[in-house]
Amino acid sequence: MTTAWTKTDWRTRERIQMPVYNDPTALAEAEACLSRFPPLVFAGEARALKAKLAQAVRGEAFLLQGGDCAESFGEFGADILRDTYKVMLQMAVVLTYGAKVPVIKVGRVAGQMAKPRSAPTEVIDGVELPSYRGDIINGFEFTEDARIPDPNRMLQAYTQAAASLNLLRAFSMGGFADIHRVHEWNLGFTSTEGATQKYAELAVRISDALDFMTAAGVSSDTTSELHTVDFYTSHEALLLEYEEALCRVDSTTGKWLAGSGHMIWIGDRTRQPDGAHVEFAKGVQNPIGIKCGPSIPTGDLKRLIEILNPDNDPGRITLISRFGAGKAGEHLPRLTSAVEEEGFNVVWSCDPMHGNTIKSSTGYKTRQFKDILREVQEFFAIHKAEGTIPGGVHFEMTGKDVTECTGGIRAVTDEDLSSRYHTACDPRLNASQALELAFLVAEELEKRAATRCRAG
Ligand code: PEP
Ligand code: CO
Repeated sequence: MTTAWTKTDWRTRERIQMPVYNDPTALAEAEACLSRFPPLVFAGEARALKAKLAQAVRGEAFLLQGGDCAESFGEFGADILRDTYKVMLQMAVVLTYGAKVPVIKVGRVAGQMAKPRSAPTEVIDGVELPSYRGDIINGFEFTEDARIPDPNRMLQAYTQAAASLNLLRAFSMGGFADIHRVHEWNLGFTSTEGATQKYAELAVRISDALDFMTAAGVSSDTTSELHTVDFYTSHEALLLEYEEALCRVDSTTGKWLAGSGHMIWIGDRTRQPDGAHVEFAKGVQNPIGIKCGPSIPTGDLKRLIEILNPDNDPGRITLISRFGAGKAGEHLPRLTSAVEEEGFNVVWSCDPMHGNTIKSSTGYKTRQFKDILREVQEFFAIHKAEGTIPGGVHFEMTGKDVTECTGGIRAVTDEDLSSRYHTACDPRLNASQALELAFLVAEELEKRAATRCRAG
């Protein structure tokens, strides 16, 4: 007989990419405090998201997941949240128009604050300090003090996540996301260029259709789908003390829920089938993402899916591939074949960010728009060739006019990077680049929709 899963079982596994806190009393107090706080999300919401993702498994919906690489305590506020939310809404409109299916909107937000790092320490001008691991763990500032993991940061992270979610729920339910406001989601600084202009034209077409519907008696007053949107949160469930403290039993089903966000994912560095992160994710009912980089053994992927989704529940697993431009051809087909062979139900999503990080000629960590686009195009082409369904995209992006990724129509150059490089971790698409990419993804989706219509 197997013993029942408990939320502390991960503690018996190897501790990877997590901080060692040097004050156990302070840690225990922070955990106890968090355990008394209400969960941030409810099980019914996670189940609703899973049902939508099940549609994406079948190609009847498309996942748009996006937001900061790392949310920070410093860059936090209503305007920042609002602008990223606006770009997500714009992208969703563009994608819906192309895909002709509902777009599932999931932010990397309200908890995306713990980061895996490629090296445990960082050296600047001959000084070596522990790496920055996200604001929920330690501080970005390059001082010995800031880099000490502080468990009380988990409480501040919780407060920030709760406040963020509160505002996002208000935007989603309170009228801000009403489709009749489709023109107003354009951001001032992107004015009349490129994708923004294309978006304005699309918004006119949508407004015309809405006018017709109003005349026919369908309006925001009669149809809540026009007035509100479902917006979900997600983050990498890396810091397991935080996850455990917010893990609760759902009284409706008696099953465990990660109360920290609607969807959680397991990163490319912590997806060992016997590891702590998989052990934790196994027991909670939320939709789970698995990052799949070039180093993932096909056998591990099969084992991971068997462990995390023994009932082959559609919507439970999203495979987020992140190979890098030019590399998907070498890796994605072996994964799609394995998944098809086993008959696993998964959403295939493309993260074209994490396999495309380079150092610019001016010394910044950056990504080139053309590489990001190329990986997206390869993702669609390979799924077409393999007969599998491209179910979503996963971007690091912001609504701010930052200069972190190079290229795009309003070309950001290596020399521009220093002007507004604000990210706490990886380089994000700015609002114009994100919208431009949405149009290019929509083109791929349109091709797919056209093939489906011809076939159907
Ligand atoms: C991330 O999504 O920020 C991340 C670290 O990704 P990956 O695990 O795929 O490297
Ligand atoms: Co990142």
